[in-house]
Amino acid sequence: MTQSLTLALETSCDETSAAVVANGRTILANIISSQVPTHQKFGGVVPEIASRKHIENVIPVIEQALSEAGTTLADIDAIGVTYGPGLVGALLVGVATAKTLAFALNKPLIGVNHLEGHIFANFLAHKELQPPFVALVVSGGHTSLIHLKDYNELVLLGQTRDDAAGEAFDKIARVMNFPYPGGPHIDNAAKQGNPQAIAFPRAFAVQEGENKFAFSFSGLKSAVLNYLNSAKQREETVSIPDVAASFQAAVVDVLVMKTIMAAEQVGVDQIVLAGGVAANSSLQTEMTARTTERGFKLFYPPAVLCTDNAAMIACRAYYQYLAKDFADLHLNAVPSLKL
Ligand code: KG4
Ligand code: ZN
Repeated sequence: MTQSLTLALETSCDETSAAVVANGRTILANIISSQVPTHQKFGGVVPEIASRKHIENVIPVIEQALSEAGTTLADIDAIGVTYGPGLVGALLVGVATAKTLAFALNKPLIGVNHLEGHIFANFLAHKELQPPFVALVVSGGHTSLIHLKDYNELVLLGQTRDDAAGEAFDKIARVMNFPYPGGPHIDNAAKQGNPQAIAFPRAFAVQEGENKFAFSFSGLKSAVLNYLNSAKQREETVSIPDVAASFQAAVVDVLVMKTIMAAEQVGVDQIVLAGGVAANSSLQTEMTARTTERGFKLFYPPAVLCTDNAAMIACRAYYQYLAKDFADLHLNAVPSLKL
């Protein structure tokens, strides 16, 4: 069988990444140039700086990916690129580069939804995985439950109506003086803490008529910030590990319960985790325990494929390539692209 090579670019936020993937499922190269050290001193991603860094990094990252994959542009069959959601200036660097390559090489151009890319990271990590399944996408920008009926048939079941789970992790971590991005630091601190120490609220309930698979994390975020601020005012010392563990438990409880409820409702026996927060150790442990006892098969990617990378975009692009879902040279960045 001749192999089909996809070159993909990912520049939606603060990682400049290029990857070469064979037949959609085998990573030949996945180069990720992280801008985290650049943004760390500002406590978060500065969009204008991110765009400039992408411009500097995008060509070297593509060259490195081709060289590591042992291939050249002439052998690439399709060019995939994230065109949203994300920061507009950051996305535009990837989109303009991909359009230029597709035009110069006369190869198909494929616009990929970043969220869908996160889900498809699982197809790279688990060769046996096939649709259908329910996916929980938890990242810095998104908390969504998606029913993937087939490779190109995705149905949104619910999403957050305010903060994303990763955003809550990062904002709370910032108040605790952890560096950006704070999620992994909370994860670590929580290992020494008691998850039952503080009863933070869990937003399970939804209002009458509201989608029961909707999420809300702003109330929890405020509760944790109030707890920390009032302790500071009263000059009381708080146990950072206990706050981290109790906050994390509140997030994980809701994520696990709603994901299982969604899988039961749509009638699938497989559950998939995706996005940066899928790397959270407590989410993985709790989800494993509670899905196993109910007979579900659980999949999640290794940490490097949970956070932003171009290999997941190449995988998603490959299945769009098979479906001839091509973009033309009018492809534009769509910062608030929906599923
Ligand atoms: O998917 P991603 O790289 O970027 C977006 O598309 O947003 O996710 C980044 C998010 C950040 O909020 C980061 O704090 C969070 O994922 N994250 C974690 C962990 N590792 C990354 N959150 C909790 N625990 C972790 N171990
Ligand atoms: Zn992402």
